[in-house]
Amino acid sequence: MSEDKQPSGPDLTQGIAASALAEGAMLTGRVGEEEVLLARHGGKLSAVGAHCTHYHGPLAEGLLVGNTVRCPWHHACFDLSTGEALAAPALSPLTCYEVSERDGKIFVGGRKPQPAPQPTGSASERIVIVGGGAAGFAAAEMLRRRGFSGSITMISSDNAAPVDRPNLSKDYLAGSAPEDWVPLRGEDWYAENRIDLKLNTEARALDARNKELTLNNGSTLSFDKLLLATGAEPVKLDMPGAGQRHVHLLRSLADCRAIIADAQTAKRAVVIGASFIGLEVAASLRAREIEAHVVAPETRPLEKVFGAELGDFIRSLHEEHGVHFHLQNSVTAIGANNVTLKTGDTLDADLVVIGIGVRPRLTLAEKAGLAIDKGVSVNEYLETSASGIYAAGDIARWPDPHSGERIRVEHWVVAERQGQVAALNMMGLRTPFRAVPFFWSQHYDVPINYVGHAEKWDSIDVDGDINKRECVVRYRRDGKVLAVASIYRDRDSLQIAADMEKSVATA
Ligand SMILES: Cc1cc2nc3c(=O)[nH]c(=O)nc-3n(C[C@H](O)[C@H](O)[C@H](O)COP(=O)(O)OP(=O)(O)OC[C@H]3O[C@@H](n4cnc5c(N)ncnc54)[C@H](O)[C@@H]3O)c2cc1C
Ligand code: FES
Repeated sequence: MSEDKQPSGPDLTQGIAASALAEGAMLTGRVGEEEVLLARHGGKLSAVGAHCTHYHGPLAEGLLVGNTVRCPWHHACFDLSTGEALAAPALSPLTCYEVSERDGKIFVGGRKPQPAPQPTGSASERIVIVGGGAAGFAAAEMLRRRGFSGSITMISSDNAAPVDRPNLSKDYLAGSAPEDWVPLRGEDWYAENRIDLKLNTEARALDARNKELTLNNGSTLSFDKLLLATGAEPVKLDMPGAGQRHVHLLRSLADCRAIIADAQTAKRAVVIGASFIGLEVAASLRAREIEAHVVAPETRPLEKVFGAELGDFIRSLHEEHGVHFHLQNSVTAIGANNVTLKTGDTLDADLVVIGIGVRPRLTLAEKAGLAIDKGVSVNEYLETSASGIYAAGDIARWPDPHSGERIRVEHWVVAERQGQVAALNMMGLRTPFRAVPFFWSQHYDVPINYVGHAEKWDSIDVDGDINKRECVVRYRRDGKVLAVASIYRDRDSLQIAADMEKSVATA
């Protein structure tokens, strides 16, 4: 909450009528300067912080499911009794408050203390995590949260500690979020949590049988359990001019800083590729008042993911904000001040960003002889073909109980949740990964949320009106809903995800 914003709602310390909160209802009130969510669920009362610890989403607009509350914005899930962030993208707990019901009124009291984690496992056990991204960080955080007492080493070829990668194409790139929003945790956190974070370090070879990693500096590292979370790398363009200083890929904080540095003086940008990242970059450059042109071979942006109608909407949304599209076209050469298109036209450009997709980083796993299937094959516990070696995030292909297929996705929330589940499994708490795939994408003030997974569908139905920015779009195959995209229908999106979750739990 900003400093000048006063907390809203009734003063819960003075009590509210018990009849104002029916079973299954939530409301927001205040306790001193803090906004507090009060919920009645399964005959119990809970009072917790009213805002999600991810990006401050208003939890009262979310969904109660059993003993949890789900955030409307990006589906984080919190335990109402303990405040724990059970499922990413939120990682920090909600504050919990004392609550009581007497004489027909509900009263909220002071903050409850956060219970400290109970140490578990042997202090001599060694877990190594390769990858300092979504999955690797979430795994390390969960290990310590659940009291893992052994050593944790995290190896990352990045030069920065784990960052909020989705922000790199959105608010941070647009200039509306300060840099201190970007790290997932401050520098001290790693030492305080006894996580040996080795930056600028690459794992070059894995000996799965002897449980040993060789690093780029020639040293070796032994482990009892290993998590591979090497993510994906942007596909490079092999064409004249692609190596120039003003031509960028976007994956790391360093990449993003380089684009921002060029954006200080750039007047005209060409974005190659109408991918999520390409379009979000175009939107962020428009926020910096840079002319933005998107060149891509497809007829409609994101049609393969969202279908024609939503693809047309996304195109018109970007056009309303001044983005110029050059579709069914491609770039054949990049000059110092322009790019040449397949049609022979040229576009002036003093900044070029390539967003033509990513490839999973599989080399380490492949060379180690792990089972590969266009991704690292894992079982429902996220364990690879080698015992004690797990994989999570953009590299992992897992048996998805919702689609009944083995899938691999490139979503932030899935990577984090897989990291969390891999952590539990590395601690010996046999936990299958059954989360419903979820991602979001932000275009200006329009967020698109997507639950499930549909690589192919045979029908799409739209409930609501896409152009009015209020819709639920269902993707079906043989009558079964495989996935649902939504705009400003957050509760519906949460309910659909909860129903998918339940149908697997009861199957
Ligand atoms: C700009 C941008 C915006 C995005 N926006 C969204 C969004 O809005 N919504 C969404 O759902 N998804 C989004 N994504 C995708 C999302 O960030 C990824 O799906 C997610 O980061 C995958 O997590 P990961 O842990 O598998 O890999 P990563 O987060 O990529 O982390 C991989 C890590 O492994 C390290 N590494 C790789 N190989 C080695 C090695 N051999 N040795 C040591 N370290 C190694 C890398 O340096 C990196 O630290 C976005 C991605 C980008 C780049
Ligand atoms: S703001 Fe709650 S999950 Fe993102």
